[in-house]
Amino acid sequence: MDNIRLTIKDASRFVDQKVYEGFLSQVDTLSAELENATCPGSDFLGWLHLPSSLSQDLIDDIMVTAESMRRDCQVVVVAGIGGSYLGARAVLEALSNSFGGLRANHDAPQVIFAGNNISEDYLYELKDYLAGKKFGIINISKSGTTTETAISFRLLREWCETSCGKDFARRNIVAVTDARKGAARMMADKEGYKTYVIPDNVGGRFSVLTPVGLLPVAVAGFDISRLVSGALSMEETCSSKSPAAENPAAVYAAMRNALYAGGKKIEILVNFNPKLHYIMEWWKQLYGESEGKDNKGIFPAAVDFSTDLHSMGQWIQQGERTIFETVISVANVNHELRIPSDQENLDGLNYIAGKRIDEVNKMAELGTRLAHVDGGVPNMRIEMPKVDEYYIGQLFYFFEKACAISGLMLGINPFNQPGVEDYKKNMFALLDKPGYEKESEAIRERLK
Ligand code: PA5
Repeated sequence: MDNIRLTIKDASRFVDQKVYEGFLSQVDTLSAELENATCPGSDFLGWLHLPSSLSQDLIDDIMVTAESMRRDCQVVVVAGIGGSYLGARAVLEALSNSFGGLRANHDAPQVIFAGNNISEDYLYELKDYLAGKKFGIINISKSGTTTETAISFRLLREWCETSCGKDFARRNIVAVTDARKGAARMMADKEGYKTYVIPDNVGGRFSVLTPVGLLPVAVAGFDISRLVSGALSMEETCSSKSPAAENPAAVYAAMRNALYAGGKKIEILVNFNPKLHYIMEWWKQLYGESEGKDNKGIFPAAVDFSTDLHSMGQWIQQGERTIFETVISVANVNHELRIPSDQENLDGLNYIAGKRIDEVNKMAELGTRLAHVDGGVPNMRIEMPKVDEYYIGQLFYFFEKACAISGLMLGINPFNQPGVEDYKKNMFALLDKPGYEKESEAIRERLK
């Protein structure tokens, strides 16, 4: 099997080689800190050897649960947010037919998502959509107390019990949560729901290869073993035993830090395949939440090309030169379709008649890279042989390992997210949550 491949030549020319090599020379030390759990955030390193340590028993158990939900349900609603949401969505969006809903085929239930916003209209429309359907719920929350997810789950559970019956609900509600604490755990234990544990030492945004990502993907009918094998092959390729210059995660981490040191403050992740949109969303969370702290960090942005060449393309070509691009390039598409020839040729397209659509897309990609590099935008490229479970697994592990190394190079703790609490504190104070009396008083005073 091939690997995903990183090319940095169109970024190298924009950085001081010594600065880049300086970052690369830190890799052995930082990898050892990760291996020996001596780095900041060392309580959250469970993801590091997750692919090689996942037991076959767990995979088999997930498959059995998925099979049972597939038999019983027309729809499965996955409730979760952030790290408890984006990984599964990324896989399902990448692998599903663009017009067939999120699932491998029509034998699988339609997988949909909730708990990732607090929109009344979204939830009302969800209720409407679910009316009269047999639906199950996968409630995913490590803390078990996240407001967005908890509100959705309260509603979903009530709808499921009322319309599908209590027994059906008990069989088809699954909780993925902490082993011991949190409301999701307490309720699951009380109601007798099937549960899966999110290990203590795996943070939300690094949890896609736990049941958080694996269960929804299996329910939708995709091959979770191949997802894990892809990740495993990258665990080996990016291991601390690989020399830094041959370790793609290390090279990517060193290059983005060298670019950042040279004033490139924004990284734009680019795809030329709309199916990868949610891989970008997953990546944005991984890098944004891991690196944006202590008043530091590259701002992770993302675009879908060629769609966004007709919106953000102008800014990227000629705006402030503080950006660099990382392109995920898919070598082989899964289907073949050619441009027909037309006798009248009124649209002037006969010059590309007979070509595959992907040949045109590839030329758009190459033309864009050349133009953006000419315009002063450093460019890294990750070539993915094709979009399937195996290479998505590789991509996940590659980005996770690179994120850890990159964050440590930046001198921050990549595994916490203290800033996320601030909005919650204000929201709880504004909603008069018990225990927030002082904050409620203070915030009302401030708003007078
Ligand atoms: O990466 C993280 O830790 C966060 O994005 C969490 O995944 C997110 O806030 C959801 O948390 P929980 O799983 O506790 O509901």
